[in-house]
Amino acid sequence: MPDNEFHRTDASIHTPAERLADVNLDPERISDSDSSPVSENERPLTEELSEDVAPAVEEFMAEAAEQNEAAAAEVTEERSSAPYIAFEHVNKAFGDFKVLQDVSFCVKPGETLCILGRSGVGKSVSLQILMGFLKCDSGVVRIAGEDISGFTEKQMLAVRRKVTMVFQNGALFDSITVGENVAFPLRERGELDEEQIGKIVKGLLEMVGVAGMEDLLPSDLSTGMKRSVAIARALASQPEAVLYDEPTTMVDPLMAHLLGDLIQRLKEQLHLTSIVVTHDMRFAEKLADRIVFLHEGKAVFFGTMEEMRKSDNEILQEFLKRDELVLPV
Ligand SMILES: Nc1ncnc2c1ncn2[C@@H]1O[C@H](COP(=O)(O)OP(=O)(O)OP(=O)(O)O)[C@@H](O)[C@H]1O
Ligand SMILES: [Mg+2]
Repeated sequence: MPDNEFHRTDASIHTPAERLADVNLDPERISDSDSSPVSENERPLTEELSEDVAPAVEEFMAEAAEQNEAAAAEVTEERSSAPYIAFEHVNKAFGDFKVLQDVSFCVKPGETLCILGRSGVGKSVSLQILMGFLKCDSGVVRIAGEDISGFTEKQMLAVRRKVTMVFQNGALFDSITVGENVAFPLRERGELDEEQIGKIVKGLLEMVGVAGMEDLLPSDLSTGMKRSVAIARALASQPEAVLYDEPTTMVDPLMAHLLGDLIQRLKEQLHLTSIVVTHDMRFAEKLADRIVFLHEGKAVFFGTMEEMRKSDNEILQEFLKRDELVLPV
């Protein structure tokens, strides 16, 4: 991104890169928070990048953060509590099998919603409806203020520039290299030169913990690595919202921690609106502003983790209890 993309009209207005540095490094902000050291979530995403690529990635990420703030402001302009994403009384059946029945939930701009529930309750189907890969039978599906439930494929292409999905298996293009996969959305923009693209790709791969893997093919990577690359590719498209389908399953605990930490920092630092489908309660506890719990086609709970713990709903309590058995506190 050339410097002149950011029009400096006033000396007090900083470039996005400077603003990101301000957000992360402002000593007052750090001392405000109980004079404790910078929390894990505040550690700048670009902190550990190689010197040759850090400035390009910082600028790219800061531009994304600024866009997301503007998108959030646009959504909340008319109504301060307006959600960025919402399901309103959504129904979806496959033949006679009703997967979703009158399901409602919402995500405010910059917030994270975790979708919980047992296997087969329609968590992935919900994400696919949001992406327009599946259509709901009735109800309203709102993204950035628009009801997309009746959108054509062409209209959905525009929505998918704002909202992107990280699939469980990564859904990378198998016949091109990891680097080409991440470069794909950057090339689509048509405004970056090859040197800039190379730096951003290298930096994004470093950021998601798979440094130096540009020239490998997706088939050379483990499940966790593929997912990391998929997150890098998602970020390359500078989305306003990211939908993650079980980002921490089928990877080792260290990789799960790295991915969880990354998702949290992306939320905080890029103001990304996120939906995370997960079975991992620790992860949900760390990330979720709100939780929707799906059971037998219905959203049996929608609220905060604290509210979920206090709920006397038997299904929720059973789920929480089983989780403690699997993962002792
Ligand atoms: N395209 C489809 N055609 C027919 N049935 C489908 C289709 N997609 C999903 N289903 C069915 O809808 C139900 C919900 O599927 P979904 O993949 O959303 O479950 P899930 O909650 O994501 O489960 P898991 O935790 O195992 O990933 C399942 O019974 C599945 O078989
Ligand atoms: Mg699923």
